[in-house]
Amino acid sequence: MPSRKRLEDFFMDMSKMDKLVSLCKRRGYIFQSSEIYGGLNGFWDYGPLGVELKRNIKEAWWRDMVTAHDDIGTLPGAPTPFEMVGLDCAIIMHPQVWKCSGHYDLFHDYKVECKESKKRYRYDQVWGRWVEAKGQRIFVAVADPGDEGVKEAEQKALKFFNLRAKNVDELKWDGVVACLTTIKEFTQVLGPDAKSLGTLGEPREFNLMMKTIIGALGGEEDAAFLRPETAQGIFVNYKNVLDSSRVRVPFGIAQVGKSFRNEITPRNFTFRSREFEQMEIEFFCHPSSSPDWYKFWRDRRYNWYLNLGLARERLRLRDHHQDELSHYSCGTADIEYAFPFLAAGDFGELEGVAHRGDFDLRSHMEGKLVKKEDGSLTVELGADGKPKYKGSGKDLKYFDEATKEKFLPHVIEPSAGADRATLAFLCEAYHEEEVKGEQRVVLRLHPRIAPFKAAVFPLVNKEGMPEIAQTIYRDLKKSFNVFYDDGGAVGRRYRRQDEAGTPYCITVDGQTLQDQTVTIRDRDTLAQERVAITELERVIRARMST
Ligand code: GAP
Repeated sequence: MPSRKRLEDFFMDMSKMDKLVSLCKRRGYIFQSSEIYGGLNGFWDYGPLGVELKRNIKEAWWRDMVTAHDDIGTLPGAPTPFEMVGLDCAIIMHPQVWKCSGHYDLFHDYKVECKESKKRYRYDQVWGRWVEAKGQRIFVAVADPGDEGVKEAEQKALKFFNLRAKNVDELKWDGVVACLTTIKEFTQVLGPDAKSLGTLGEPREFNLMMKTIIGALGGEEDAAFLRPETAQGIFVNYKNVLDSSRVRVPFGIAQVGKSFRNEITPRNFTFRSREFEQMEIEFFCHPSSSPDWYKFWRDRRYNWYLNLGLARERLRLRDHHQDELSHYSCGTADIEYAFPFLAAGDFGELEGVAHRGDFDLRSHMEGKLVKKEDGSLTVELGADGKPKYKGSGKDLKYFDEATKEKFLPHVIEPSAGADRATLAFLCEAYHEEEVKGEQRVVLRLHPRIAPFKAAVFPLVNKEGMPEIAQTIYRDLKKSFNVFYDDGGAVGRRYRRQDEAGTPYCITVDGQTLQDQTVTIRDRDTLAQERVAITELERVIRARMST
């Protein structure tokens, strides 16, 4: 066991991200999936604290977007009042869904494979730098486009050219770190994990949908896919929702659920996983008002993250360039967060808000669509002149009773990742600070999403204090998720709760025995106040709502 001092030095040297990953494991937020068997790349498990945090985030989203939504009033920025309902669809859907949605043909990335290391990389995520030494010019590939990549490229180049560190000036660098996609021929490329040149193969298409087999026979005709997005379940049920509830356009359908993608290079902790959860809304509106609804949802979703504690300087709204737009989209903005594993100044996607037009409803009605040269959409035809993938043939148009107009609604889609949101809130919350000469790690999570709202301690385990503390614990448990801790010095119990992100600690002490008051300590300000036991629930509720 290293001494306390050495342990502190060790933590000083770690990056913020490494420290957060370590805390997540140590405190039961997030574990590598199947860890005892060496783990499975791209899959993660949420521990006792993590599951509460993620549930609270999903519940905050569901409540703010669906159940607490005021459908008779008009929200600031909303063109008109609107309704919101929920849905929970199967993960495996009819294979035709993915043919008509475009995922079967178009949902792919490009991968490159290294003959030497046998590793696969996403073509657009291999970075590197041109360098010349000893009369040879090579492209040294690295995994990271930031400062880490620059350092790694130097180490790799020294090794390749058989140079000592003191001869680093012999390396003549040409340009900044660039993506592999800028290179036409790979003969002079030193792959990210290779020792010799030219080991990377040609980029090849790779469909990201995970395949499975339905039923016992197991033939190719029984193949199905795990959904790569929850959105399609909403589109194919849109008519069912209209026919079975009183909603009228404009309205939104929300869904939270697992999605699966065969990511080539899962990375950055849970940021890019192969199994993850999405929180998606498909909002159906009249085509003429769709640009206004798009702006409304963009701003509303951006503000949701701010209200739950992400700092404005680390959160941004970025409009996609025309060439970045998905095959269906006629306008998309990303809500992005400056995750600490990214290079300084870089942001990673938290949520996409897309104007999908009528692409999805039309595809599920008529068959898979393609863009014509003039930008309009038409059903894609196969070699026989018939639709390449037939739609359902069902009439998905909406009839407006008031205006007597029949139209195919346009769709605005705010699509968030529950795991990315969880990661962003954890990154934002992580702080190290010195309190009375001692280091403390604190997770400043917004009380709404903190796993425990309060912890209850007896100051000592005698004089009737545990009995009072247990009664308080049981009473509060009826309203909030609370934690009971009677182990060790009270200072250490505070530190444990700081790391768990618990906003309030309640301590039963000697004075409690006299006047039935307790102390309530605030995680962030460290202020302690005396509160009557009978007032505790009200005080916590009031503090949580400020
Ligand atoms: N229905 C639209 C759609 O799925 P997307 O941008 O591909 O759009 C939406 O995904 C959100 O889902 C992303 O903003 C991100 O938060 C989350 N997400 C996507 N791929 C992910 C992955 N591999 N791991 C974790 N989250 C992911």
